[in-house]
Amino acid sequence: MLEVSGVTKSFGGLVAVDDVSFSIGDAEIVGLIGPNGAGKTTLFNTITGVDPPSDGSVTFDGASIAGRKPNKICRRGVVRTFQIVRTFDESTVLENVRTGAVFGSSRDRSTDEATEHAREAIEFVGLGAEAETPASELTMAQRKHVELARALACDPELLLLDEIGSGLTPTEIEELTDTIERIRDERGISVFWIEHVVDAIMGTTDRLLVLNEGSLIAEGEPAAIREDERVLEAYLGGAV
Ligand SMILES: Nc1ncnc2c1ncn2[C@@H]1O[C@H](COP(=O)(O)OP(=O)(O)OP(=O)(O)O)[C@@H](O)[C@H]1O
Ligand SMILES: [Mg+2]
Repeated sequence: MLEVSGVTKSFGGLVAVDDVSFSIGDAEIVGLIGPNGAGKTTLFNTITGVDPPSDGSVTFDGASIAGRKPNKICRRGVVRTFQIVRTFDESTVLENVRTGAVFGSSRDRSTDEATEHAREAIEFVGLGAEAETPASELTMAQRKHVELARALACDPELLLLDEIGSGLTPTEIEELTDTIERIRDERGISVFWIEHVVDAIMGTTDRLLVLNEGSLIAEGEPAAIREDERVLEAYLGGAV
């Protein structure tokens, strides 16, 4: 479904993403790990149109999306969450998620249909009881579920998650992980998931990609990646 080929992104003299190629298939959960500054978020930005690639191609369902506007890419079904939570804090959970249904989806919905669609996404992530609560009154873990619900309301085929587990307790991460597995299992949505620390996504991902200084240095099953010399070296024996 997603084909990334030879993607490079430079900022002046700095090559943040260096000739990266990989693909993601239907209903797959793929993890992207790597140390701080490895280029993970930049790679997401090249796919989602926030920072178009300097070189290389990105195709989704056979059509080129490199260099297209973020809103166009989102409506084609490539939807992301951000490393820093971006909820509208003055707005309720329902209002937050409705923006996804109204602006992020390619489907035409009436006002009532958009509201219904948003409610359904809120139920799916387990926040049904908080639909009318302002986002500012939620815990960090709940706000991350709001982001997931908003992304779901955009009708994604591929969901890109940028460190959605960071700042959460192990129990909270487990809940989030369960929701993400259900997104794949029940909706058939593919997930491309960045985490800095591999433990959070070890059990959930089918495959891991490892980025270091802009380059893909390893790709494979999580258990094998954990033992990979180049990966251990990249993290300098740190919290892999
Ligand atoms: N807009 C930009 N302009 C200039 N340099 C940038 C820009 N965005 C990212 N960079 C640089 O590109 C490199 C990769 O950054 P990026 O944010 O992609 O890393 P990351 O793997 O997501 O790191 P982290 O784990 O800390 O989130 C860094 O050196 C960063 O300073
Ligand atoms: Mg990042």
